[in-house]
Amino acid sequence: MDSLATLTTILRRAYSGEMTAALAYRGHWLSLRDPQEVAEIQQIEREEWVHRKQLGYWMQQLGALPMGFLEFRMAILGAIILIGCNLVGWFIPMYFAGRLEAQNDLEYEEAAVHAEALGLRALFTDLKAMAQLEREHEAYFLRKVAGHPALPFWQKRFGWGPGGSKQEDL
Ligand SMILES: [Fe+2]
Ligand SMILES: [Fe+2]
Repeated sequence: MDSLATLTTILRRAYSGEMTAALAYRGHWLSLRDPQEVAEIQQIEREEWVHRKQLGYWMQQLGALPMGFLEFRMAILGAIILIGCNLVGWFIPMYFAGRLEAQNDLEYEEAAVHAEALGLRALFTDLKAMAQLEREHEAYFLRKVAGHPALPFWQKRFGWGPGGSKQEDL
């Protein structure tokens, strides 16, 4: 696949993924009681919607449409997570949000390489900013779960957690 095809594929996948993330965060903050945490996750939800809007703009510029079936699947997944967050307590949504965020920035970094190769400077800049914000989201969840008694159990099984390879960059 050439750079443009790879780039548009990543953008279209990420566009749907941001919807899932935003819906998941909606469920996440609805499940929380601490007003400060509610406000923080509401802010993250807003940022994911902004990402989706930015991706939609760039897809339009590149003549790419959202993937209909993926949109459908990711909306269902988002709704399931939205409900699920309210059933599993405080720790699990915090942990898996962080684990997912840890992958999001890599996707935007990869897209940025292709945007640069195609000479799309403005898109490159946007993608780098998106990757940076996803790293900040990950750092937020790392701070949240650090020191929690459940952390060693989940970190052992799912790998993500304090002391991971990306932490030096944060
Ligand atoms: Fe995002
Ligand atoms: Fe994020």
